[in-house]
Amino acid sequence: MASFEGCTYVIFGATGNLSREKLMPALYHLDLAGQLCAETRIVASGRRDWDDARLVREVRGWLEAHSRTPLNEGVFQRFAGRLRYFRGDLREEATWPALRRFLEENPELPDSIAFYMAIRPAEFGLVVERLAGVGLLEESQGWRRVVVEKPFGYDLESARALQAHLSRFLREEQIFRIDHYLGKSMVQNVLVFRFANTLLEPLWNRNYIDHVQITHSETAGVGTRGAYYDSAGAMRDMIQSHLLQLLTLVAMEPPVSMEAEDLRNEKVKVLKSLRPIPEEKVEEHAFRAQYLAGVVEGHPVSGYLEEEGIPPDSRTETYAALKLFVDNWRWRGVPFYLRTGKRLAARQSLISICFRHPPQQFFREIHQGPMKQNWIVLGIQPCECLRMEVTVKQPGLEMRTRQRSLDAQLAAREHPIDAYEELLLDVIDGDRSLFLRYDEVEWAWRAVDPVIRHWQKEKGPLPTYPAGTWGPPESRRLFEKPDQRWRHSLDPEE
Ligand code: BG6
Repeated sequence: MASFEGCTYVIFGATGNLSREKLMPALYHLDLAGQLCAETRIVASGRRDWDDARLVREVRGWLEAHSRTPLNEGVFQRFAGRLRYFRGDLREEATWPALRRFLEENPELPDSIAFYMAIRPAEFGLVVERLAGVGLLEESQGWRRVVVEKPFGYDLESARALQAHLSRFLREEQIFRIDHYLGKSMVQNVLVFRFANTLLEPLWNRNYIDHVQITHSETAGVGTRGAYYDSAGAMRDMIQSHLLQLLTLVAMEPPVSMEAEDLRNEKVKVLKSLRPIPEEKVEEHAFRAQYLAGVVEGHPVSGYLEEEGIPPDSRTETYAALKLFVDNWRWRGVPFYLRTGKRLAARQSLISICFRHPPQQFFREIHQGPMKQNWIVLGIQPCECLRMEVTVKQPGLEMRTRQRSLDAQLAAREHPIDAYEELLLDVIDGDRSLFLRYDEVEWAWRAVDPVIRHWQKEKGPLPTYPAGTWGPPESRRLFEKPDQRWRHSLDPEE
């Protein structure tokens, strides 16, 4: 859907990693695809002593490094014409009236403004307060929207405090809380798969599903983000946000419509139905670990404690697994296993649905052990695909069975559209369906808060795993049944 409305995108923290690697490439790709209207402008705000020409030079380098296609010179010239640099320190009072003047005195900047917070979460509140202080959040001419990156708060209490602060200056409709996972096309495909196919709905419940696994594994380590990551850890960084969002999409009831409020109402119901984990039961529900030095994709890599910016005695988890139950009519008793980690054996995001065993074992005599269960696996990345595993008869005279899979490749392997492209466009269009409403964030914090609190107090030895492996085998203690096991890949045998 092309956007026909011109707006000014003001990016705070525009010289940082998020802007270099994601936001500028996404905006450039939108321009390349003809999705930005001619009037759209991008104001990059940062502390560095740059001017427009320097910004354009830098952006060229970022695009050469991170764009998914070779730079198209013609489009780049058009894109460069949209870029303006505003130099300002967010902590200095003088920055704010200067920003207001900059936005008002440049007639080519459209009145409607999206402010993107690509800055440290601790600064979100301050920036919004300052914007309000100079009248930049008033909507007398054009709209004003604020895009807030995750993490929204550090725990339940701080999320509530941040929300209370933001809502003094902004209406809920102006706040776009981003969870970039929701911009991934395969994540949106979960909704299509579930609600555009009659085939599945009768099976999508506790009567047929044994358990659900949601896995996001990475081969990368913490890289240059050590300072942020060490204060977050895998539970906050991935599970509280992205993986709980995936869980809501898998578990939600059909919404009244695909409109933002109807969708988000159903997602919140799932989060509210999560069985609270009492602190004394955290060990049964959650597992954490930290990576040691190891070998990833053939290269030796250091352990977490040797990474840049990590204190040598850090107890931050780089691997987290969580077992949750959705206590409602559809899902009661079905475990949802969520798992994520850095420096694991493969980069992969999967939603794996494991079905129950058939009620009768007809082929017992010729089959060694119990028959295999059916699985439906939704590959989110790197491969966007759908796989259904069924048992079929082996060719030949004997009545032997084997597993076969029905596979659908849903997108080209190369260069999938980046999630930020969709989301940046939705902000211009005012479509909030792929953004988080505050109550979603609050209920997600409620789900993980007891685990985080327990881990903070718990001082026993921290489990570890060599980089390049699938994490400690002891994480299997979360499983409800002896035949449940982690599904590491699309391929069932791995
Ligand atoms: C971010 C996390 O939100 O998501 C990162 O902060 C993580 O730690 C990233 O690596 C994963 O997302 P993607 O889209 O790169 O798989």
